[in-house]
Amino acid sequence: MSQTYLSLTVELPEEASEAVQDLLHESGALGLEVRDREAPLMPGVRGPNPGEAIIIGYFDERDTAESARDEVASSFPEAKLTLDEQPQQDWSNEWKSLIKSVHVGRLWVGPPWDKANAPAGTVQLVIEPKMAFGTGDHPTTSLCLAAVDAYMAEHPGAAVLDVGTGTGVLAIAAKKLGAGRTVATDNDPISVELAQENQTENGTPDIEVSGKELTQVEGTFDLVLANILANTLIELAPLIVAKTKDRLVLAGVLSHQRADVEAAYRNLGLTVLTGATQGEWVRIDLQR
Ligand SMILES: C[S@@+](CC[C@H](N)C(=O)[O-])C[C@H]1O[C@@H](n2cnc3c(N)ncnc32)[C@H](O)[C@@H]1O
Repeated sequence: MSQTYLSLTVELPEEASEAVQDLLHESGALGLEVRDREAPLMPGVRGPNPGEAIIIGYFDERDTAESARDEVASSFPEAKLTLDEQPQQDWSNEWKSLIKSVHVGRLWVGPPWDKANAPAGTVQLVIEPKMAFGTGDHPTTSLCLAAVDAYMAEHPGAAVLDVGTGTGVLAIAAKKLGAGRTVATDNDPISVELAQENQTENGTPDIEVSGKELTQVEGTFDLVLANILANTLIELAPLIVAKTKDRLVLAGVLSHQRADVEAAYRNLGLTVLTGATQGEWVRIDLQR
């Protein structure tokens, strides 16, 4: 059975707003919402009449809410009062509906609670949304997943480097699709920790995940992936190109930034291939 809570809505002249807020606090309100000229309203929320304020006190017990209503009524006879019962929403689980699983080529990437819905025959990655970027549903990630799928289909055993790995999603996808040596780096220690956790969870423990700078990473790679941001991609261009043996895939670039990023890599001798776009986001594919 879902829990309920009570909301006591008080509408009255704005100058009495603070006094009512104090009274509601003293009367046992667990929380207050104030709608007045100062506070911007959420879309779809009813605002106060001119010169008035709306103060809503939230209570978990009917007795407390009713005695608060009586107190406000006797101290502020001009106030309009409404006591409502509201179903309690389960906010701790509400956000889960915002995380979407994705199906890109042979790959399915989704959160643990959606795994049962993964289509049969897909290569499945389970990524629990935490503090790292890369649950799969961001356009930049899914653009890269498509590139990983296509490249790995043609180059089984390819060595793969994932720069800015976040959750590790691209490196794990590459490994599951048959990559050989796979290295993943990120300059954010939390991402490194979570990528390591995810590689274990997904049964790809031999990915070399670390916070190493590119100058510390040994060797070159058939496929290099870097889903970072345009300015970082430009800054890191010489180091990224030095690690690329064959194909380089860049993402995290908005369409108006494309020309600058492409120029930085063309100047280092790479050829721009046909990439891909999703909304405002572009993926730049390059060939050594
Ligand atoms: C947009 S996320 C991409 C995550 C994942 N690769 C994906 O495709 O979903 C970018 C990641 O790059 C990392 N990053 C940013 N600047 C970096 C740098 N200079 N070197 C390494 N990683 C960097 C961030 O910490 C973040 O985890």
